[in-house]
Amino acid sequence: MTLSHAHSPHPVEGVEQNGFHSGTFDMLATSVLLLDERWYLRAINLAGESLFDASASRAVGESLEQLAQLDNDWRELLTQAQAEDCPVVRRGIVLLLRSGLQQAVDLTISPVAHDSGVYLLLELTTVDRLYAISEGENLWASQESLRQIIKGLAHEVKNPLGGIRGAAQLLSKELANQGLAEYTEIIMAEADRLRTLVDKMLGPREKLDLRATNIHQITEHVRQLIEAESQGEVDIARDYDPGLPEFLTDKDQLTQVLLNITRNAWQAVGPSGHITLRTRSRRQYTLGGHRHKLVCAIEIFDDGPGVPKDIMPQLFLPMVTGRANGTGLGLSIAQMIANRHGGLIQCHSEPGATVFTLLLPMET
Ligand SMILES: Nc1ncnc2c1ncn2[C@@H]1O[C@H](COP(=O)(O)OP(=O)(O)OP(=O)(O)O)[C@@H](O)[C@H]1O
Ligand SMILES: [Mg+2]
Repeated sequence: MTLSHAHSPHPVEGVEQNGFHSGTFDMLATSVLLLDERWYLRAINLAGESLFDASASRAVGESLEQLAQLDNDWRELLTQAQAEDCPVVRRGIVLLLRSGLQQAVDLTISPVAHDSGVYLLLELTTVDRLYAISEGENLWASQESLRQIIKGLAHEVKNPLGGIRGAAQLLSKELANQGLAEYTEIIMAEADRLRTLVDKMLGPREKLDLRATNIHQITEHVRQLIEAESQGEVDIARDYDPGLPEFLTDKDQLTQVLLNITRNAWQAVGPSGHITLRTRSRRQYTLGGHRHKLVCAIEIFDDGPGVPKDIMPQLFLPMVTGRANGTGLGLSIAQMIANRHGGLIQCHSEPGATVFTLLLPMET
């Protein structure tokens, strides 16, 4: 197969699936697809496989319509590029994936001349991904300053608290009227409650105990715990990538992270709702200022009412809750632990579709 740019007399080398798949195209964070004149897939790079959740070996030979639902906008752009033989660019066009998920992408379609007609080279950059990086970086920075504030505050609160508790204890022994002991007890109990609260806000004290872990051991454990906690009321579906390699994590602390998020999902959906745990790898992803070759994404989907809009901007701050009896610590602790692993938790939520994504670097 010889290909050349419509306007260039030079053949384009290495665009066939073999060269395409193992070559430089796989290093790209942009998804690249080559379609023939009937919009059947001739080649796809790794980022494309991950976007469409399809392997090249299966997808090549399928029509684009089998990979995603094409609406009129898409058809028009593809037809236009082919008919006018000139590149077409569209920002933020929505791609409806086979899984039912919608993904906004920036799209460039370049016509490529071929013996049998005009082929199309598609470049797709997911908009959320760019957004997620900058949003993630902001989140990361704000978490760091938050940790400093909590540390300072905890110190200021805990010192006098010790004094107050000690004084109340002494006082209770000296009381002539034991009927007043009830009050010193209240002082001590409240001092203890405050201390526990501050300790919780600080997150787990234990250093990370990093060991090579299969992430699915943790997700399975969490799934069983929540199913037991809800006494079988909630059924948690799984969509795992079995090919994920083991990587270094603190199993207990990550269990806490996923438990906090999944428990929230259960509390949000109630008995008739659906929760799905999904694992995938993502390539070339920036976390905390570091670009990682491979990142593990653990997504917790639920079809509940969504995170209340008014708390969304502060969702990961301590004491932010939308529940009457919530302490608002679950997500802030989870975020803290994720950060300690060099990772991050993000949330996208709308009524009927909430997803919390835990991203962890997988340096192997
Ligand atoms: N999956 C979800 N769907 C809808 N709202 C959610 C979801 N996850 C979290 N929330 C909202 O975010 C709030 C904060 O969650 P977080 O876990 O930090 O605290 P909490 O659940 O209120 O209390 P706790 O400390 O007991 O976990 C919740 O109160 C809830 O309003
Ligand atoms: Mg919670």
